Amino acid sequence: MTPPPSTPSVDAEGMAAPSWGHLTLIEAGAGTQRTTFAEDVAAGLTATPKSLPCRYFYDEEGSLLFEAICELPEYYVTRAEREILEAHANEIAAQVPSATTLVELGSGSAAKTRLLLDAFFRHRQQQRRQHLCYVPIDISRSMLEESSHALLNDYPALEIRAIAAEYDDGLRFLRAESERPKLILWLGSNVGNLERAEAARFLGRVRATMTPADRLLMGVDLRKSREVLEPAYDDAQGVTARFNLNLLARINRELGGEFDLDAFEHRAHYDEVVGRIEMYLVSTRTQRVRIRDLDLTVSFEPGEPIHTENSYKYSLAEIDALSAAAGLAVEARWLDRGERFAVNLFVPA
Ligand code: TRP
Repeated sequence: MTPPPSTPSVDAEGMAAPSWGHLTLIEAGAGTQRTTFAEDVAAGLTATPKSLPCRYFYDEEGSLLFEAICELPEYYVTRAEREILEAHANEIAAQVPSATTLVELGSGSAAKTRLLLDAFFRHRQQQRRQHLCYVPIDISRSMLEESSHALLNDYPALEIRAIAAEYDDGLRFLRAESERPKLILWLGSNVGNLERAEAARFLGRVRATMTPADRLLMGVDLRKSREVLEPAYDDAQGVTARFNLNLLARINRELGGEFDLDAFEHRAHYDEVVGRIEMYLVSTRTQRVRIRDLDLTVSFEPGEPIHTENSYKYSLAEIDALSAAAGLAVEARWLDRGERFAVNLFVPA
């Protein structure tokens, strides 16, 4: 793949800026054997108990709804992480002085990434080395395009190599070209959407792409009371409910499903012992739902749940154990003032 020619840009002082600014978009993993939406829906809805994989939340509609979740008064997660990055971005940039590449897993709108880009550019300017490469990895291609163009507009010196892929395909791509020191970002407590053992295995694969000069910055939501957690995943305006129900809407749109969205309710339950929020779509009545393209009819009892996602919460000790299991050591850690969220910087152990 050849990058498109970069357009000369002009910096704030009106001087010609180095013309690194350009965007390359790569679709990784097209060649890998992977189950399809249709196969996963058929398997999940014929299983006992019923479930649907959470990666299908993020079609165009779902990505927009998720952006709206991040603005909700009850959803403190985004604001707590932003508070930490605002307070410590300079320190973070100073911890990885040689990094010239910023990789981001599940970059989404990349709104919080800007705090780090600002700090990195400030740091680089001091060192008279302005070149910075940003590698966002996200399953939503539309989100990737939109956020990349917005970033290039505001950071004309940035070189963006956007990867439309699932995490593991993105990692494979990273391993193939890891000669430049990099800081890997995994924000938003997305680690919480994996089972704990799965999270350790995945972090081990992230670790395998790292050299001693590389660092991983991971945002993790901390264990806290049910009174704070449950409203964060079941807001008064019903945005999270719409986000969850969009999975059924997507089955209707893409697989000829006949789900009546009014016959399912969003539910978020915190299991304090396990330390996780569980999200369900609960059938409000006896019903049979046809999904034409799957040639399948699914029966529901009243009150029967479809499990759609978990969001695991961690104690600081659990974060230490998780990273140790993956061959990573905590180099630095920052909490928000309310001690709801931790941003952790890891170094290969
Ligand atoms: N990973 C974040 C979390 O668990 C964001 C997220 C993923 C989320 N899926 C969600 C937030 C569903 C609300 C509802 O908090």
